[in-house]
Amino acid sequence: MYEQKQVKPKGGNQMVTQIETPIRIGLIGCGGISQKAHFPALEIAASMDLVRISAIADPIEANLSAIGDRANLSSDRRHANYRDMLAAGGLDLVIVATPHHLHAEHTTEALSSRVAVISEKPMATSLEEADRILELADRNRVLYTAVHNFLFSAVSQEAIRLLSEELGDRVFGRSKSLFAKSTSATDQVFWRNRKDAGGGCLADTCYHEIYLLENMIGSPVRYVEGRIKTKFFNFDVDDVALLLLEHENGAVSTVMTSWGASSGAGDQGNICEVHTQGDGLRLISRGQSLYRFLRSNHQWQEIQVADYDYITPEAKAFAGHTGYFMQTFQALANGTEIPITGQQARQNLAIIEGARRASIERKAIDLRNL
Ligand SMILES: NC(=O)c1ccc[n+]([C@@H]2O[C@H](COP(=O)([O-])OP(=O)(O)OC[C@H]3O[C@@H](n4cnc5c(N)ncnc54)[C@H](O)[C@@H]3O)[C@@H](O)[C@H]2O)c1
Repeated sequence: MYEQKQVKPKGGNQMVTQIETPIRIGLIGCGGISQKAHFPALEIAASMDLVRISAIADPIEANLSAIGDRANLSSDRRHANYRDMLAAGGLDLVIVATPHHLHAEHTTEALSSRVAVISEKPMATSLEEADRILELADRNRVLYTAVHNFLFSAVSQEAIRLLSEELGDRVFGRSKSLFAKSTSATDQVFWRNRKDAGGGCLADTCYHEIYLLENMIGSPVRYVEGRIKTKFFNFDVDDVALLLLEHENGAVSTVMTSWGASSGAGDQGNICEVHTQGDGLRLISRGQSLYRFLRSNHQWQEIQVADYDYITPEAKAFAGHTGYFMQTFQALANGTEIPITGQQARQNLAIIEGARRASIERKAIDLRNL
């Protein structure tokens, strides 16, 4: 294994790691998001000699083939059991893209083998698991990061730049994602619709609305109120999540998500919007387009943002994933700070856990106690 050299310490449990390129990557989980978003991003990074897909693991043969064939991997690099892949060695990093309840196990096994981890969200299904992951990464001096992809499209990056450099103190925000799932998509055969697999709209789709809003506000959430309910479907996970947040800088914001309601005509769909005492910014569809509210004339005006020059047609629909992977790989290659730390992933999980508790106890939760 290439040495993962600690270059300089960073706050919390996160360290800066340098890995020799091409970074040898193993995939744990070759399902939907690996095929649609991860693989196109990895292809771009591989074309720049930043990474190489060295091995893959998935118990479903069709999913192994879907990635294995595109990556031209020999059969000895395709594993039904991820433990065999880790035991075979020769990996610098794994990408965990499995159902939520398996993230902690897969991450822990990789970190124990001193292999760095990029995990799909959420990092785990409980804060106890999350803390064990951060402690293990710290103890073994191995990098851990989680995918917060929608912050990394060129449009989202421009929104965050404008907010921090031009717009001043943010005082108010809201984010919203409404998905009307068809009844056939709500069967409990699917892991997303099962509590024992860590499913539900709060931990799945709403996860993104939370980190987008917190980053657009630019201040960590301190207090969480919430109502997390099952209102539409016959399953044991939530399909409605409403959060009321107060940030450390005093800003207040709301998050609304549902799997049962749809954004209708005249509605701009999934949005994340923040306001200062001057202008405001609205991000549409988690980083696809951007509007600025000009308080001077009370008009919303679209801001045009050029895409990354490396984006391929296949990666275009997943520009956020590609931007996240590219920034992370470049940081690992250069030994500079990675864009998403384990502590940031824990903070998102703490907001989710806080909202669950707030909903049960019907009172605001102070995140410093979680
Ligand atoms: N960041 C995003 O925008 C985004 C979008 C979609 C999914 N995701 C996340 O990606 C993860 C996977 O979601 P998905 O939509 O690809 O789900 P999926 O069901 O399509 O794929 C999951 C894959 O994991 C495999 N798997 C199950 N157990 C395994 C094991 N023990 N070892 C190896 N592989 C195993 C399954 O066989 C399947 O191929 C989830 O954490 C989800 O939240 C993130």
